[in-house]
Amino acid sequence: MTETSRKILVTSALPYANGPIHLGHMVEYIQTDIWVRFQKQRGNSCVYVCADDAHGTPIMLKADQLGMTPQALIDQVSQEHQRDFSGFMVNFDNYYSTHSEENREFSELIYKRLREAGHISRRTITQAYDPVKNMFLPDRFIKGECPKCGAKDQYGDSCEACGATYQPTELKNAYSAVSGATPIEKESEHYFFKLGDFDAFLRDWVQEHVQSQMIHKLNEWFESGLQEWDISRDAPYWGFEIPDAPGKYFYVWLDAPIGYMASFKNWCDKQGVNFDEYWQEGSEAELYHFIGKDIAYFHTLFWPAELKGAGFRTPTGVFCHGFLTVNGQKMSKSRGTFIMADTYLQHLRPEYLRYYFASKLSSGIDDIDLNLEDFRLRVNADLVNKVVNLASRCAGFIQKKFAGELDSQLADPALYAEALAAGQSIAEAYEKREYARAMREIMHLADKANQYIDAAEPWVLAKQEGREAEVQASCTQGINLFRVIISYLAPVLPQVAEETAAFLNIDSWDWNAIEQPLLNHRINAFKPLMQRVDPDVVERLIADSKQTLQASTESTAPAAVATELSKDPLAETIEYADFAKVDLRVVRIAAAEAVEGADKLLRLTLDLGGETRQVFAGIKSAYRPEDLVGKHTVMVANLAARKMKFGVSEGMVLAAGPGGEDLWILEPHAGAQAGMRIR
Ligand code: MSP
Ligand code: ZN
Repeated sequence: MTETSRKILVTSALPYANGPIHLGHMVEYIQTDIWVRFQKQRGNSCVYVCADDAHGTPIMLKADQLGMTPQALIDQVSQEHQRDFSGFMVNFDNYYSTHSEENREFSELIYKRLREAGHISRRTITQAYDPVKNMFLPDRFIKGECPKCGAKDQYGDSCEACGATYQPTELKNAYSAVSGATPIEKESEHYFFKLGDFDAFLRDWVQEHVQSQMIHKLNEWFESGLQEWDISRDAPYWGFEIPDAPGKYFYVWLDAPIGYMASFKNWCDKQGVNFDEYWQEGSEAELYHFIGKDIAYFHTLFWPAELKGAGFRTPTGVFCHGFLTVNGQKMSKSRGTFIMADTYLQHLRPEYLRYYFASKLSSGIDDIDLNLEDFRLRVNADLVNKVVNLASRCAGFIQKKFAGELDSQLADPALYAEALAAGQSIAEAYEKREYARAMREIMHLADKANQYIDAAEPWVLAKQEGREAEVQASCTQGINLFRVIISYLAPVLPQVAEETAAFLNIDSWDWNAIEQPLLNHRINAFKPLMQRVDPDVVERLIADSKQTLQASTESTAPAAVATELSKDPLAETIEYADFAKVDLRVVRIAAAEAVEGADKLLRLTLDLGGETRQVFAGIKSAYRPEDLVGKHTVMVANLAARKMKFGVSEGMVLAAGPGGEDLWILEPHAGAQAGMRIR
């Protein structure tokens, strides 16, 4: 390769610090990580940064609900996110937080420069306000009846029953999702970024820096006019206060993309790298953002305009991807297809999913489907049967008959040259994010290599007198083709590549290293690199994902559970057999106490007629612990025990009502005795 080394900075979107990473997210982080690993393998300088997106109302309210400070919540979630990403072998050079000093400085700097250049305006607007919580309510936190179809409990922006979109003020019988109070209208002064100032610049810029599939959508946005963007929020808000505007905070989406710069700055300071070389106007470094199509407006319009207006360089490319569906449908909690990264990793190897996503990803914005049956068959057919099998067919003979020593020449140099030549097109495919094409070409090579071994039949020759040399020759050829294939797959399968390096006794996967075949070279004993995906394991993953739903809702109030479920438009009915599995029992509440550090939870000791259980219930807002002692209620007795922050919960009590104070545990009629089954 004669091309000079490039200087590249890559980001993935910053995940919100209010929830766990799921397989939908992983599409993006795996897509980006593969691209970054590929660039590094090519010898380019490529830095991959990310961070948690740690500000905003949902995080503030979630912390409140859990009885934690926002700082404690974002610290905890950051740990979990990083654990999940490293579990999937996503190899960030730096993982940071938007709640950082660097980010505060850059946010203030960009804001001030925009203000000085006349791109910020101020005006008073009227918004919904929660008079109980004393806070302005974002649309998502106002609920009520749909103005079109009358469906209850719809969000302030759209109806999930009929699909209508509207203003929150149009909702009938609106209430605050935070306190339940009826919102009032209240005025406040807000700060706006004048996006329209950048209309001409952006129309031009997007042509060169955004995928053609997105241009259509962008044109729609240009046609409907670029509106001023509200970048301020009133206290109480979890974020950065706007300089010279006490009580006003930057809206989370103002400081979130700036978090890319902040994370990179944090890395630069640790590494002694010059930040400005990457970010100053006219920089020759390349800058790419990988994002989902849902956040394209922020990245293809607001972000380049902000950078331009503040005198920084703009991105080289914004790469949008589509959304993940599972088994052809939106991920569903009730079907067990809303799979958390952590749950997946408890059952299956990360590389199976990395490969499967790679085999489906293109440079476009189409949604990609994880069909679990196809997933299993594809991984088994391609990775296990074709790739790993190629090595295991050859390695044993080299080990046993030739003490690990490869031959001094290739048996079929033309075939090896063909495999090397394919590298150019495979590299192009990686570069353009056409991973599906890269995987197809690599599997085509694997087919050819297997055909070669099929024809050479080393296992037949090995039994014949005087044909040792041919066995060594064909197996040397096979092992060398295997090495080429793993080199091409290394961005997707980092652990397989690492174990293969140990097996082949080599120390580099540099893209060009394969130009020199391994000859007169001693390899190590072969250990199976990958097991087949077992259908039972996939079943268990789904079953577990259903349980994770139960467990996670158990720690929130039942009112929240109802909302979660009603959000899934595809929620299914269950069979009688499923219902029959639920072991409902009458229990006596033997003891009840508040849980220190938890807003909503009571620790209950339940007597099942001999046996006692500890259960945490989110009913503190409705009952004083002492009033519960001695009462009979109903529990799910065969719910898998779950470790919570405050201890193990060994079941679940049933309660009804909208939540808050209006929540009642079920009390069976007199005559019910602890331990009785409910039928
Ligand atoms: N915090 C914002 C991004 C700020 S970037 C300055 C955000 N966070 S997110 O956690 O909701 O999403 C993170 C990324 O994951 C986004 O690019 C989003 O598009 C992507 N995905 C989230 N769910 C997804 C699927 N189901 N499928 C594919 N990608 C998805 O948005
Ligand atoms: Zn409706």
